[in-house]
Amino acid sequence: MTKLFEPLTLRGLTVRNRIWLAPMCQYSVERQDGVPTDWHLVNLGSRAQGGFGLLLTEATAVVPEGRISPQDTGLWNDEQRDAWARIVDFAHAQGAAIGVQLAHAGRKASTYRGFAGEPQNGTVPERDGGWEPLAPSAEAFPGYDAPREMTVEDIQGVVEAFGVAARRSVEAGFDTVEVHGAHGYLVHQFLSPLTNHRTDGYGGDFEGRTRLVVEIVDAVRANVPETMPVLVRLSATDWTEGGWDPEQTVAVSTVLREHGADLVDVSSGGAVHADIPVGPGYQVPFARAVREGAGLPSGAVGLITSPEQAERVLESGDADVVLLARAALREPAWPQRAAAELGVDWHEASYPAQYARAHWTSDLLAG
Ligand SMILES: Cc1cc2nc3c(=O)[nH]c(=O)nc-3n(C[C@H](O)[C@H](O)[C@H](O)COP(=O)(O)O)c2cc1C
Repeated sequence: MTKLFEPLTLRGLTVRNRIWLAPMCQYSVERQDGVPTDWHLVNLGSRAQGGFGLLLTEATAVVPEGRISPQDTGLWNDEQRDAWARIVDFAHAQGAAIGVQLAHAGRKASTYRGFAGEPQNGTVPERDGGWEPLAPSAEAFPGYDAPREMTVEDIQGVVEAFGVAARRSVEAGFDTVEVHGAHGYLVHQFLSPLTNHRTDGYGGDFEGRTRLVVEIVDAVRANVPETMPVLVRLSATDWTEGGWDPEQTVAVSTVLREHGADLVDVSSGGAVHADIPVGPGYQVPFARAVREGAGLPSGAVGLITSPEQAERVLESGDADVVLLARAALREPAWPQRAAAELGVDWHEASYPAQYARAHWTSDLLAG
């Protein structure tokens, strides 16, 4: 038996394997109303058919001004909830678990989606459907408009919005909620000393900068059943002197565990421009640091592409699950090929009955 195909239980949820689909923005809500569409159903649905254990949705905004682009999905109203429910039901029918990544983009909101033939960067002006971004401090991400500094009332509104979105996630049937605390979006902007220059209780020292993420996890926990796991995605480091770093990531993960978080999905970067030494599995050591240092399960993500590499991450105790992003876009049924490559019986690889006649064999792998 491989580790990749071993089920994982977090609270009341048992996931069929440890190959998870990483959250990936599709920027495909053409109506700009945050309601997921047939694109989202097919995109997530095909990876559920392809054997992924748990699918994470793209960053899904808890308030309209929390969207990265006007074409992002949301979960701030009942129409969005009901559209998500259809996608959740399909994933469940394929035996996959599905979680929603709840997000607020902060100063990196109201940006162009960067599709070919469209503007590549900068802030979308209000006349084109954009809005004024909010952030811990009134400092722009390079190339974007300066955000407005949030008042304490704004901050408390965001915390409440995460709670309400978590309640709607439960109503939609999601199995878990992931708080997006990475990649330089709002929560990370509060965590990092490079982007948080507040002098009130939401800034300054470690306790002040981590207060928002702790309050958000509390708000989410208060709105989901005891049996539902809560995940948090963090950037382990800003890759910049004087920034957020792995020690603080382990420390906040320990606090979040005490507040009921069940797994930290460990990424890096995004708060500021930095030289990142990108390479195969480059973020895996951070997942190990969180797992060992904070004593809770962790997820490894970032240039994990081959079945052998993914299996090794789990075998060596670096992480409890692997998350695949771009490899899963290239190959929706990556887990089913991985099973064959690792010598796992195809019956363990969650093929839909409709696809059983096409299962991978060693002859096919040999080409
Ligand atoms: C098209 C695309 C969209 C992404 N959107 C999100 C997102 O919504 N939330 C998030 O946390 N990460 C997002 N990411 C980052 C991925 O989840 C992942 O961390 C990153 O791509 C590294 O993994 P990979 O090497 O397997 O692609 C996105 C990545 C891609 C390629």
